[in-house]
Amino acid sequence: MSSTTPSPWWRSAVIYQVYIRSFADGDGDGVGDIAGLRSRLPYLKSLGVDALWINPWYKSPMADGGYDVADFRAIDPLFGTVADAEQLIEEAHRHGIRIIPDIVPNHTSNEHAWFRAALDAGPGSPERARYIFRPGRGPDGTQPPNNWVSCFGGPAWTRIPDGEWYLHLYAPEQPDLNWQHPDVHAEFESILRFWFDRGVDGFRIDVAHGLAKDPELPDLTREQIVHPHWDRDEVHDIYRAWRQVADEFPGERAFVAEAWADTPERLAAYVRPGGLHTAFNFDFLMASWDPKDLRTVIDDSLAMLSGVGAPATWVLSNHDVMRHASRYARRTVARWVPNERYQPEGPVDLELGTRRARAAALLMLALPGGAYIYQGDELGLPEVEDLPEDVLEDPIWERSGHTDRGRDGCRVPIPWSGQAEPFGFSPDDAYAGPWLPQPTSWGERSVEAQTGDETSMLELYRTALRLRRDHPALGDGTITWQDAPAGVLAFHREPGFLCVVNLSDDAYQLPEHTAILLASGPVADGRVEPEHAVWLAV
Ligand code: NOJ
Repeated sequence: MSSTTPSPWWRSAVIYQVYIRSFADGDGDGVGDIAGLRSRLPYLKSLGVDALWINPWYKSPMADGGYDVADFRAIDPLFGTVADAEQLIEEAHRHGIRIIPDIVPNHTSNEHAWFRAALDAGPGSPERARYIFRPGRGPDGTQPPNNWVSCFGGPAWTRIPDGEWYLHLYAPEQPDLNWQHPDVHAEFESILRFWFDRGVDGFRIDVAHGLAKDPELPDLTREQIVHPHWDRDEVHDIYRAWRQVADEFPGERAFVAEAWADTPERLAAYVRPGGLHTAFNFDFLMASWDPKDLRTVIDDSLAMLSGVGAPATWVLSNHDVMRHASRYARRTVARWVPNERYQPEGPVDLELGTRRARAAALLMLALPGGAYIYQGDELGLPEVEDLPEDVLEDPIWERSGHTDRGRDGCRVPIPWSGQAEPFGFSPDDAYAGPWLPQPTSWGERSVEAQTGDETSMLELYRTALRLRRDHPALGDGTITWQDAPAGVLAFHREPGFLCVVNLSDDAYQLPEHTAILLASGPVADGRVEPEHAVWLAV
């Protein structure tokens, strides 16, 4: 690329994930909303992020935190109105921050007008054809049509009173759409245009790897080479059409796919030329805290993605997984097994987890491509692992028969200020407490408490993002590994930048450098301690 053509923003953006229910509550009902988010735009500006990915804000009965959408062209009253969203988009743009909402094309809510019409219209009707309805198996059709299971536990099928069953890869309140139906394609392209017209800069695509199903709906077997509903090649046709929709609009609108693929090759297929722009790289998030594993993941991801001309993305936490400060707080961090929930055991050492989280932040932000920060990562928030059972809302808790506490522990409202709940999350005169209780100790982790404290996680992130923005070596590009002792990751970026992460048990004497740009902890006599990272000018 010539130096006169700047690289598109999404090739190197730092995107901050706003889990809107838990970010900032403007109206005092204990649930985060658009008004709260608007009031915190100056904070996000000063943090230095380029864009916000906002979890679903559409009208929803909230059976799965908004991932059960009843109307994609309306904002849920809990969060505000379409006019509020338009104002947010405009204000964010004035701060130089782009907005990427979530889009949920795999399923709708069971309260979506289409699904209600499908229930009313009866078997064999055109209304039912937009979803996946089937008769059951067995003499009276009392057995589900196949053996697929819901990601939240239990069968992926629910029977309705007239005897038919419908498919839901998630909760029963989230019926799967039939992507072989032209109405479904037309409707989603129209929804994309609706929001592009309102100024959004792109979309995060929920379950992007799940839309295409084998039309025969075969049972899952061990021998399957092509999975009947995950990561099938047909999904790419959908996204090629979506890419054309995005390209109709000015201003580099961009997609990021939530696609769980078995290999970096399969992931790269989503971001081939003419397809989506970027995809989350969950391999990095799933890696253990181990130098070999991390290096392999980094090398494989960069190789595969650069092979198709796409930038990498890096992510450590999100609203579905244990926060990484807690994940890394176990001495041995196991590699995450795909398709299984991560529920680590063993003693929790949060100081260790925090040291590693600081080092991981510097590693992630030095790698080529884009990076995602989940709200609260910049405060070093841990997972809240001891939420009382009676407050748990995630459908996983019920559907797992109370064996898996689900994802609420990473969704606890953000502490902004003060020493007591709601820690500035809601206004002082709020009429309801936060929708999930905050730990009493979170005053010391609040934005207010960390601001100006040079040793805090927040100031580490602020400085790292400022350097990343200003340093010509960071963002899009390539890396060159440097020789280093076992357990030390060291890579060079042109011009003049070296990132060193010490995952060994011994202090490491830094190579020659002209300056220490940033360090995750104290560097004495040029030695970086175990579990720390350093950015150097070389
Ligand atoms: C992935 C989302 O990130 C998760 O929160 C949601 O439950 C499922 N997709 C279903 O929409």
